[in-house]
Amino acid sequence: MKALLDAVQPGDKDWELAQSIDPARLPAHIAIIMDGNGRWAGRRRLPRVAGHQAGIGPVRSTVETCARLGVKVLTLYAFSVENWKRPRTEVETLWRLLRYYLKQELPELQKNDIRLQAIGRLDALPPQVRRELDAGVEATSANRGLLVNLAINYGGRAEIVDAVNAILDMARLDGSISSLKIDEDSIATSLYTASCPDPDLLIRTSGEMRISNFLLWQIAYAELYVTETLWPDFTRADLLQAVLEYQKRDRRYGGLSGAGRRPADGGSSADENLIEALRSS
Ligand code: FPP
Repeated sequence: MKALLDAVQPGDKDWELAQSIDPARLPAHIAIIMDGNGRWAGRRRLPRVAGHQAGIGPVRSTVETCARLGVKVLTLYAFSVENWKRPRTEVETLWRLLRYYLKQELPELQKNDIRLQAIGRLDALPPQVRRELDAGVEATSANRGLLVNLAINYGGRAEIVDAVNAILDMARLDGSISSLKIDEDSIATSLYTASCPDPDLLIRTSGEMRISNFLLWQIAYAELYVTETLWPDFTRADLLQAVLEYQKRDRRYGGLSGAGRRPADGGSSADENLIEALRSS
């Protein structure tokens, strides 16, 4: 958080936003559906791939801001299992941009102690992309600052299927298959994100109210934040705004909020009056 305050000066447009953030209530894990690249390009009469190219800047600035804020994990949805349906040239451009990003940003990631991880069905990636991705993951593996998960050829349902199959394979190997029982814990620890806390905040750009097969298991209690901003226009201020909105939320996890509870026993006196009225009716 201090690193963020070091990066903004009094008078900067992000100064007040940065000052308003409560460092004690930061989301540990932010996940982002980076949407709207195509529309951004369309509005400028540019080809769709120009929108993806313009999406690199916000990736860079979001990684930097999360690191400065002290967020522990950032997960970015870069390519879904369904994105293969797009024209071949668009898919190839996305691979080129990913390789460009890895090459350009590696020194900066190292300098800032940022660790890369890739999540998804990575075996299906073009071999050269896979090699460069693995090299980036390996090169940053000892870093201990922000963890950036790049979701590539990722699908939430595919991830759950892969987790269950991994559990079955393990049980076959160690001979425990006949007594195998699957529970929430065994699934959670077999997901691609096993080492990460669940996302606290899920951001989607471009105004669409959809989850699009992203982190289906992990977002059970994530706070959702949808902004109309298209991904290529997403700035540090947009990210800080999302964090501030998150800090206003009352996270109840199916329980009661502080306001609705009487400190002594967890119920309000209005509740008790109603219960008494029902009892005597
Ligand atoms: C969705 O916008 C965006 C994508 C499918 C790709 C996201 C890729 C980047 C931001 C660049 C590369 C990323 C990294 C991590 C280096 P869309 O094309 O669906 O937009 P639309 O809904 O307006 O058509």
